[in-house]
Amino acid sequence: NRHFVSLEQFDNTDIINMIKAAVEFKRNGQFPSYTDKYAINCFFEQSTRTHKSFEMAERRMGMQVLEFQPSMSSIQKGESLYDTVLTLQAIGVNLIVIRHSEEAYYTKLIESKHIHCSIVNGGDGAGQHPSQSLLDLMTIYEEYGTFENLEIAIAGDLTHSRVAKSNMQILKRLGAKLYFTGPQEWYDPSFEEYGTYSAIDKLIDRVDVMMLLRVQHERHKESDSRFSKSTYLQKYGITCERESRMKQSAIIMHPAPVNRGVEIDDSLVECERSRIITQMENGVYARIAIIDSVLKHR
Ligand code: CP
Repeated sequence: NRHFVSLEQFDNTDIINMIKAAVEFKRNGQFPSYTDKYAINCFFEQSTRTHKSFEMAERRMGMQVLEFQPSMSSIQKGESLYDTVLTLQAIGVNLIVIRHSEEAYYTKLIESKHIHCSIVNGGDGAGQHPSQSLLDLMTIYEEYGTFENLEIAIAGDLTHSRVAKSNMQILKRLGAKLYFTGPQEWYDPSFEEYGTYSAIDKLIDRVDVMMLLRVQHERHKESDSRFSKSTYLQKYGITCERESRMKQSAIIMHPAPVNRGVEIDDSLVECERSRIITQMENGVYARIAIIDSVLKHR
């Protein structure tokens, strides 16, 4: 596929092949070379990991990377995203990574017969975050070599999380057994299609993977501020006591940025079973696999 906008566009074999490619890039440190290709990363929402690991992936593959600052672009003069992409393509850009607040912003781009460059989704509003999902899958695969029958809990701010939406769909499809936990206000009955809701204390000693989500304060109304930091941690988060009850082999994941002392006790972010830093590292290799897959299919 020329674009990478959602994991739903790929079958299980394609996804496993992308994960295996990413694992191999990490193992041997050899990357495909695209020195004649130009990339630009257009981030209309804040980002550290996704933006900079896409850039790192592009540079590791020898691509030419153009700078783009939304605040200094003609978007400020009212130019649309579509016309911005058309412009970047016209000047010779081959790959455009976009993060945008509008859900499914990419539909118009990938359906246009005038857009020939590759569009990669770096996150669309509360929609999807497929590159994060692929690096999460890579991290689980490195640990267990399979998704079949793994017991995985997704914990926290489920309704606001594009990471949760991407992950619940794909993990179920790959054969994992899913659970949800966190404040009931942030759970939507539509998630029942993918897994079961339960209190964290009922799940903590049985899951193989505990996937935490960031509490997205910026997307909440004032009324949600009833969760003080310590209340949230004690009721819904990974305290040291809960961590001590996890299976010996179980891992903790979080897409980051982490609210230390909210989703997880500050002292556990770098603990032995935490894969939070590994996820950041894997993000570069997963994104090399994504860019290779779209440029290869041109
Ligand atoms: N995990 C994630 O998407 O982080 P950034 O917002 O920093 O890119």
